[in-house]
Amino acid sequence: MKTLTVFLCLGYVLVSSVDQYTRHDWTKLILTHHWPKTFCTMEHCSANFSYWTLHGFWPNVGNECNSSWHFNASLIEDLLPEMKTFWPDLLKPASTSFWKHEWQKHGTCAAKDEDLNSQHKYFSKALELYHKLDLNGVLKKSQIVPSEKYYKLADLEEGIINSYGVTPKIQCVLQLKGSDTQTLGQIEICVDKQFQLTDCEKTTDELQITDNEVLPFLHRSHPGFTVCDPSVPVYYPPVTATPRGKHFLRL
Ligand SMILES: *[C@@H]1O[C@H](CO)[C@@H](O)[C@H](O)[C@H]1NC(C)=O
Ligand SMILES: *[C@@H]1O[C@H](CO)[C@@H](O)[C@H](O)[C@H]1NC(C)=O
Ligand SMILES: *[C@@H]1O[C@H](CO)[C@@H](O)[C@H](O)[C@H]1NC(C)=O
Repeated sequence: MKTLTVFLCLGYVLVSSVDQYTRHDWTKLILTHHWPKTFCTMEHCSANFSYWTLHGFWPNVGNECNSSWHFNASLIEDLLPEMKTFWPDLLKPASTSFWKHEWQKHGTCAAKDEDLNSQHKYFSKALELYHKLDLNGVLKKSQIVPSEKYYKLADLEEGIINSYGVTPKIQCVLQLKGSDTQTLGQIEICVDKQFQLTDCEKTTDELQITDNEVLPFLHRSHPGFTVCDPSVPVYYPPVTATPRGKHFLRL
């Protein structure tokens, strides 16, 4: 009897975890912004953006939900000028491959929702939220601007929470052992299915998405982004700054 109970419990655990990954039922969407200066210092690209740009618009559960739904740039032709400005491919500015990747990996999962069930709906909703949330304005308003001085993570968080009323996820470039600073890289703001702001949580799924998503095109290894360490000073690099820190020299 005991064995049967254990077996049934184990069966339940297995079934429910499989269920979670096959049904792709997401509950929130993560609007990920990155700071081009940090990205380009890691990757030696030459993008010269003085504002936060979009990295992605990711359901919190699910990847590559429909491999037969191909990306077609002509379906979002009218959005392309805005995409190039606010959701640019920092590595290959003239290419649409970044958006193709984002659509195949995340958009096809977001598309389970009626409000996002076309490429045009998906990309235009991301742009709409980007403008509505106005992370660039929010940071400026809290006097968080690129600077040669360092910030406390708590001050960054507080500035964002004061404006949105929800908890963001703030990511930095991993420092190497011995480095006593971290560099601001990504800020994630989360919304629910009704596109209302909601707390970003560091669940396993979200961490997994983020880790896999760091630099989708690159095969070589790199330090990548990680959730910022609250005890380490945060560097928010000005666009004109020359790279600093040991972790950059290593690349
Ligand atoms: C980058 O943009 C700034 C203004 O935002 C400009 O002064 C600078 O010349 C630009 N640098 C390059 C390499 O395009
Ligand atoms: C996958 O995408 C194709 C092409 O757009 C579509 O016809 C099909 O209904 C989609 N399948 C699912 C399960 O959404
Ligand atoms: C892309 O979409 C356009 C506009 O709907 C259509 O004419 C074209 O055939 C599509 N291309 C592919 C490769 O599906």
